Amino acid sequence: MTSPSATAPDTHPLGTTEAGTPSEDRREAGFEGAVTVVTRRTVADGVVSLELAPGSGEPLPAWRPGAHIDVALPTGVTRQYSLCGPVGDTARWRVAVLREPDGRGGSQWIHDHVEEGGELRVRGPRDNFPLRPAARYLFVGGGIGITPLLPMIAGAEAAGAEWSLLYGGRTRSSMAFLPELEGYGERVTVRPQDEYGLLDLAGFLGDPDPSALVYCCGPAGLIDAVEAHCAGWPTGTLNVERFAAAAVRRPAGGAAEQPIEVELRASGTTLTVPPELSVLQAVERAGVPVLSSCEEGICGSCETAVLEGEIDHRDSLLTEDEQAANDTMLICVSRARGGRLVLDL
Ligand code: FES
Repeated sequence: MTSPSATAPDTHPLGTTEAGTPSEDRREAGFEGAVTVVTRRTVADGVVSLELAPGSGEPLPAWRPGAHIDVALPTGVTRQYSLCGPVGDTARWRVAVLREPDGRGGSQWIHDHVEEGGELRVRGPRDNFPLRPAARYLFVGGGIGITPLLPMIAGAEAAGAEWSLLYGGRTRSSMAFLPELEGYGERVTVRPQDEYGLLDLAGFLGDPDPSALVYCCGPAGLIDAVEAHCAGWPTGTLNVERFAAAAVRRPAGGAAEQPIEVELRASGTTLTVPPELSVLQAVERAGVPVLSSCEEGICGSCETAVLEGEIDHRDSLLTEDEQAANDTMLICVSRARGGRLVLDL
């Protein structure tokens, strides 16, 4: 087990010290090792919350609202879960896991095998979804997508910002953490679909407000609807976190995928990546170590600096500005437009 590189808890109301660039924040991963499951609670139909404490008794690294950890399961899969306990808590990390019968097995394994007193291997925290300072926040959560929003709400509240939450789910009993949210009173609008139908996004989001930021996490349909509503809003206003990759973009016009050449500058190797392999797979086959987790372009762990070449971004994580900067890519899904890339690997 690697020792946690603990830092003092943040004292800024938003739980942030001087935030780095989004890309720097994503690369933070201060802890890797075993944690003990100190509590397991059912917090909604099909949702368990787990509180995790370091086996060593030393503090865990501080974290900011929106951060997640990777949970590496004995089955060989790694899954990402948002930290949803008190902002910056370094004694215990809380995550919540929805059992997804149609998923790839990670959540089911956790539901079926993780008990209090058991151990899990985790890595993080990593901040893909940072809460930036604003005078006003509009939070939209769908189902288990409430998890990253809980510490954001606490941070916004502590900072004295104006905020409101629209929280949807299939039924009231499927919606986690309602008792915790009750204390916020009218700032929280709870809208189970079986009682109210689809969320009234237009009524909640209203017109663009230059002082406001919108944060949304939930199922793809909800995020797509919020993105559509905010399409004409100033760049950067809307911030989303997806659990699953958006539809992966393919070559234009139905053209066949082409092989690409990838130079790994630091390793002194050049690879040809055939259409059936991702850059990540080709790099791993070449024996060059690189972190990875989701392999869907959503977690950020494989983010790699690009020294030359035009990137064909296919991820669901980088912002428009980050993609336009053309200096970093998620090599598990993205490829090259010009057929050649030089990576800092
Ligand atoms: S492995 Fe998760 S973004 Fe590439």
